Amino acid sequence: MRRILAPSVLAADFKNLGRAVEQVDEAGAEYIHIDVMDGMFVPSISFGMPVIKSLRPCTDKVFDVHMMVEEPGRYAEDMKAAGADLLCVHQEACRHLDRTIQQIRSLGMKAGVAVNPATPVSVLDCILDQVDMILIMSVNPGFGGQKFIPYTLEKVRQVRSRLDSLGLETDIQIDGGITLDNVSQVLEAGANIIVAGSAVFGGDQEKNTRAFMEKLRIV
Ligand code: DX5
Ligand code: ZN
Repeated sequence: MRRILAPSVLAADFKNLGRAVEQVDEAGAEYIHIDVMDGMFVPSISFGMPVIKSLRPCTDKVFDVHMMVEEPGRYAEDMKAAGADLLCVHQEACRHLDRTIQQIRSLGMKAGVAVNPATPVSVLDCILDQVDMILIMSVNPGFGGQKFIPYTLEKVRQVRSRLDSLGLETDIQIDGGITLDNVSQVLEAGANIIVAGSAVFGGDQEKNTRAFMEKLRIV
């Protein structure tokens, strides 16, 4: 399966956000991971549609919008208009998950479903064949720079094996605490879209992106 790096701009310097997006794009990242937080589903508040819209001219790469928002379907249309290509919603935040997935797809976006570390992957059984991506959270969502939770690796293996048994080549994204030291482990477990925030933007973002790309062997 193709392996993709999705730098999370949550860890970038917000006063130079446009430049940060351009630099990781130039260094080879294929997705830009954009963390939207509402202060309800998660404690923190990040940014929303106006910021996404103003970043859109900076790159043609995929805008992978991670909605850490209660009932994210309320914003699906606005997110599409702002420039989202892929909208990923939390299973825990959607009362009618099936409806929200259909809504995202009918707007012409790819649909992803995320689960928190303590949510068993069996909740995804009925929707596995309806989504483009499953996101396994490897930290509790809400903040960048947290430590990877090791038991989430087994959840990646479980989802990959379930997808294989259904003959599906759906993307599995992993998000939270990914570094150059543990990325090989998560790739081996079956994840193919790697989110990295502080490990990319915590230093020389271009150099870090290239180092990840090498690990993903797609340069
Ligand atoms: C956490 C966010 C992540 C975060 C990852 O709630 O969903 O995307 O930015 O940051 P790192 O890679 O620093 O854990
Ligand atoms: Zn995220």
